[in-house]
Amino acid sequence: PEAITVQDLANRMAEKAADLVKALFKMGMMVTINQTIDQDTAELLVTEFGHNIQRVSESDVDIDTAADVDAEDTLQPRPPVVTIMGHVDHGKTSLLDALRGTDVVCGEAGGITQHIGAYQIKTKGGDHITFLDTPGHEAFTEMRMRGANVTDIVILVVAGDDGLMPQTIEAINHTKAAGVPMIVAITKADKPEFNPQKIRERLLEHEVIVEAMSGDVQDVEVSAKTGAGLDDLIEKILLQAELLELKANPDRAAEATVIEAKLDKGKGPLATVLVNRGTLKVGDILVVGTQSGRVRAMLDDKGRQVKVAPPSLPVEVLGIGGVPMAGDTLTVVENEARAREVAAYRQEQATAKRTATAPTSLENMFSALA
Ligand code: GTP
Ligand code: MG
Repeated sequence: PEAITVQDLANRMAEKAADLVKALFKMGMMVTINQTIDQDTAELLVTEFGHNIQRVSESDVDIDTAADVDAEDTLQPRPPVVTIMGHVDHGKTSLLDALRGTDVVCGEAGGITQHIGAYQIKTKGGDHITFLDTPGHEAFTEMRMRGANVTDIVILVVAGDDGLMPQTIEAINHTKAAGVPMIVAITKADKPEFNPQKIRERLLEHEVIVEAMSGDVQDVEVSAKTGAGLDDLIEKILLQAELLELKANPDRAAEATVIEAKLDKGKGPLATVLVNRGTLKVGDILVVGTQSGRVRAMLDDKGRQVKVAPPSLPVEVLGIGGVPMAGDTLTVVENEARAREVAAYRQEQATAKRTATAPTSLENMFSALA
């Protein structure tokens, strides 16, 4: 912790914030209770008040995910997470609907995807595949970037009756930056203007060389309308997934990524999360971003209640204290005290970051006035 507000420090010392402000004034610093002070100043104050300084390490007050590595022998195969990307109206949601055998497009406002939808399908062969839908509208760069970062495979959807458009190219760049393998789905094959060869040639200009052009990027012609090519697409996804040897430890406290979150009038804060490892269970105590909570219920993509969520399963979680942010990591912890401690620490850090201003010394103030 580099900076702390006077109020937070006072709370931790169980002293009145006003007394701290007074002491700071005597030390030549004009600070209000909401301002932050640096660690050295804080330590000076703590000694001034006759308290002992307790330096805590980051890992005591926060969770170190990176240091927590699962042993090889705990890992088990998990379904691939596949993100659908491409330009607006090129047919991403329709393709996903066709794959799901359902229809979401009709339920969307104006047929434009507003958020990342997360679904899991079971193939005829019994394999599971998780799909994330993303919006193609230019305003959603951030979501496409996030999509590329939480995924194992990207399906680049290009309408075969159109061409490479700005967000097609943006999606290619995000995918490359994330180092994720890509499968190109040239869609709307049922249309008379369908010209997949033109698309393959344009892709060369962006160093995406598909198999038909002697490259190693898999490509497939599909139609969401007729269902042509869907089995082929699924086969290619499973082939790619096999090469990746995707694994996770299902027998541990869960860790998940927030795909989207919102406040529901009836249900309270809701977060759609994708489990990265471990198994998320109803009753689990968790920290997610600056929020803490307990899993009250979980719903799958069909709105059915589920008791457990294994790796790669997207679920909607009820029971979080506040709305987390998309991209936040959800971590299951041992007890409520720990959850509250971590959440409080992160909130402090977030506040300190927002209000981070160097404490104004009297000297500085006067020189500023002169
Ligand atoms: P955004 O989410 O807004 O970026 O769009 P999207 O890429 O999800 O496109 P969407 O699936 O909403 O489809 C856009 C339009 O293309 C709709 O009118 C679809 O009916 C049409 N469409 C999608 N796929 C096909 C297809 O395979 N064949 C034909 N003929 N039309 C299609
Ligand atoms: Mg869509």
